[in-house]
Amino acid sequence: MEKSILRLPRGLRDFPPEEMAKFSYVENKIRRVLELYGYQEVRTPIFERFDLFALRSGEEIRSRMFVFSTDEGEMALRPEVTAPIARMVATGKLDLSKKPLKIYYIGPCYRYDEPQAGRYREFWQAGVELIGSPYPEADAEVIRLATRVLEELGLEGYVLRIGDMAVIRAFLTQEGVPEEAVNRIIGPLDVLTSSLDKLRMYREKLSEANSGRPLGPDKLSDLIRRCDEIRRLKEEELLKMDAGESLIPKAYEGLLEPDPRVYRLKELYEEGSFDEICDVLDKKAEELVVLTKLRWAYYGVEYGPGQTYKMPEEVFDKLMELMSISGPGDEALPALEKLLGRSGQVGQALSRFEEALKALSWFGVEGFTVDMSIVRGLEYYTGTVFEIDFPFLGAQKQVCGGGRYDKLVEEFGGPSLPAVGFAFGVDRLVLALERSGKVPPARPRCDVYVIPISEEVLDYAIRASEQLRSSGLRTEVSLSRRKLREELSIADKLGARLAIIIGPREAEEGKLTVRDLETREQVSLPLKEAIRHVKAALAGGKT
Ligand code: HAM
Repeated sequence: MEKSILRLPRGLRDFPPEEMAKFSYVENKIRRVLELYGYQEVRTPIFERFDLFALRSGEEIRSRMFVFSTDEGEMALRPEVTAPIARMVATGKLDLSKKPLKIYYIGPCYRYDEPQAGRYREFWQAGVELIGSPYPEADAEVIRLATRVLEELGLEGYVLRIGDMAVIRAFLTQEGVPEEAVNRIIGPLDVLTSSLDKLRMYREKLSEANSGRPLGPDKLSDLIRRCDEIRRLKEEELLKMDAGESLIPKAYEGLLEPDPRVYRLKELYEEGSFDEICDVLDKKAEELVVLTKLRWAYYGVEYGPGQTYKMPEEVFDKLMELMSISGPGDEALPALEKLLGRSGQVGQALSRFEEALKALSWFGVEGFTVDMSIVRGLEYYTGTVFEIDFPFLGAQKQVCGGGRYDKLVEEFGGPSLPAVGFAFGVDRLVLALERSGKVPPARPRCDVYVIPISEEVLDYAIRASEQLRSSGLRTEVSLSRRKLREELSIADKLGARLAIIIGPREAEEGKLTVRDLETREQVSLPLKEAIRHVKAALAGGKT
């Protein structure tokens, strides 16, 4: 047999019981918090029609999903669960008389991402959707749910950032960008901001380090890959310019000048020239912004068959300025007003954003940052958007993302229902627990281990074990017919607190010999008393 058959595909993992225990712990905490606020669990299929996911995000999403064909057409493994929930609502599967609907789900999702630490091709999401309330207190409740889960898990040091897509959309509409073009701009804008964020993060790590190796091999190769990608895009454009095929005026050639240092990044890193790399990173970030600006201005963004929107350079510059606004609410909101004014749709969006932030204080949520660079890759967001990061998780630090999406249900042919929600990455919550030393000690497989010392007493031992279980005691009975000494050592290994030893005398007298595995004390008691004794021992009393 080929060994490779046994190798798991990249980005997939098995979960032995110790790992599962961590996931169950997190999931149980999440369930408890969400149910405390009245949310009910639902489940949707693992795969759905490809078009369901592509409707809002366009064909580009294909390369990020696992797509396969069936007798009913193309299907995709779900990359997220909001679209399936919106489908459920739109097709009348949920009782709308109980509006707003309060729904949650926990389950696997699949993305054809490049795997790395914290980023998998199969991962678990725990999400919430609040459907049917347009009010800012709904946004605030949803954000509170997320922070409450983190509090219940005892996770500290998270960074909550809140932005608003309605403000960005209203700005773009005011500047004359057609609505469908706005939708097509959001995805690339998210890619742009996350790339800039990554370059900034690497820069920070390098500038803080004086020596040593501040980046692991994965991060260094990601840094090199990102810089090289920008070099490649630049070179392609320069070649086109030389051949007279570029739509970008030749006057911009100087901005795209090659920088040979990009080929030497590994060398620079190895010789510890971190300042030099920081300089390259700054240049690459600038170039990425300029390239995007020029491409959008001169090639334009396609938003339908034969329809292209060309964004004037000054609109792009103002958009970048808008997205660079970040800070506490009392600084960011006046800055937004100063940049955008207060009239029309933009003014309305700003007021709505302010109300949502105010409502957060009613739920006791404080210490967040307004960050207008949050645009979120999924294109259905229409209002408040938010992300929660644990910076100590490094590149894959985002544990939660969500926001308001008021049009999705209607776009799926359902009633007009405003909605807001989020999803946690459960795997990343587990990583955050591990890194902060907050994983609770694993529960042993059983509390009581029953040892029949010979074949003749199996009948009695198994019946007694069943009674112990009926009284709620987590009991294992040996199924291995081993010698007493071996059995006792197995009981220890399993972490059982007590062993019950059954020989012919116990069977005859209807008793159980209970042995405390810590103190090694033993008592022989009738069944009912033995159960009481075991319970007292487990509750911390003396045996
Ligand atoms: P998202 O930000 O794409 O939002 O995903 C939510 C979370 O899933 C992320 O914050 C991250 O923790 C986790 N995640 C995403 N991709 C991966 C991956 N490849 N490996 C491990 N974890 C990952 C959504 O999916 C929206 N549906 C959230 C939402 C609900 N918005 C409104 N309602």
